[in-house]
Amino acid sequence: MILCANFKANKTRQETRAYMAVVESFVSANDISDTIIVFPPFTALDHDPRNVLIGVQNGYPVKNGAYTGEIALEQLEEFGIRTILIGHSERRHVIGETQEQIAHKFRFFAEQGFAIIYCVGEPLSVREEGHEALMGYIEKQFEGIDLSYPDLIIAYEPVWAIGTGLTPTNSDIESVHSALRSKTPAPLLYGGSVKVENAGEIMALENVDGVLVGSAALSANDFCEMIAQAVELNTEIGE
Ligand code: 13P
Repeated sequence: MILCANFKANKTRQETRAYMAVVESFVSANDISDTIIVFPPFTALDHDPRNVLIGVQNGYPVKNGAYTGEIALEQLEEFGIRTILIGHSERRHVIGETQEQIAHKFRFFAEQGFAIIYCVGEPLSVREEGHEALMGYIEKQFEGIDLSYPDLIIAYEPVWAIGTGLTPTNSDIESVHSALRSKTPAPLLYGGSVKVENAGEIMALENVDGVLVGSAALSANDFCEMIAQAVELNTEIGE
């Protein structure tokens, strides 16, 4: 399983340090082999990871240069960052990144060999039009994206499920994930109001290879509990 914690614009550097200490020691004490990735804010990238990967929530697709307010490859390399989130719903719908910009960013970081967690997901109005409309919408979010990129992870995060406490039904998640599976060999994460109470059952769904968690992962203990649920599933699968 792959479990990701996306802090968004939450937590200070000091809070991130304390968080990482809890998660790192949980992962090493329990000999966890699942992939755990934490995406702190830019100010807290200076962590020396042992068992947990640190990824970045965004990056500007240049080595360096005159791009006020952005962070580029050279700065990420200084922190040893090799993992990036691209296409997150908040960057598309709140910040206003276009598919063209997103695809450009994807190509740049793929050329640099980054692991890319590429996010897709539909707004509620599209979901209400049915499965075909939904997959048509997601198809457009794949424009310019190399779905056979070897270091790719796809995260399906319905816009209306993010930070709302709402989630699609398990069978809705499975039907989107099985459609995604036919398009790409990449691992498939689900994100959107994942929490301790539903993480285990979501991770147990067919074609779900992990979760991308926002608010509920802000608690290190809750995130560790979700990791423990993934470990339990591994054991069940192995039995
Ligand atoms: P929530 O878990 O807060 O719904 O956020 C999901 C998300 O956007 C993770 O990237």
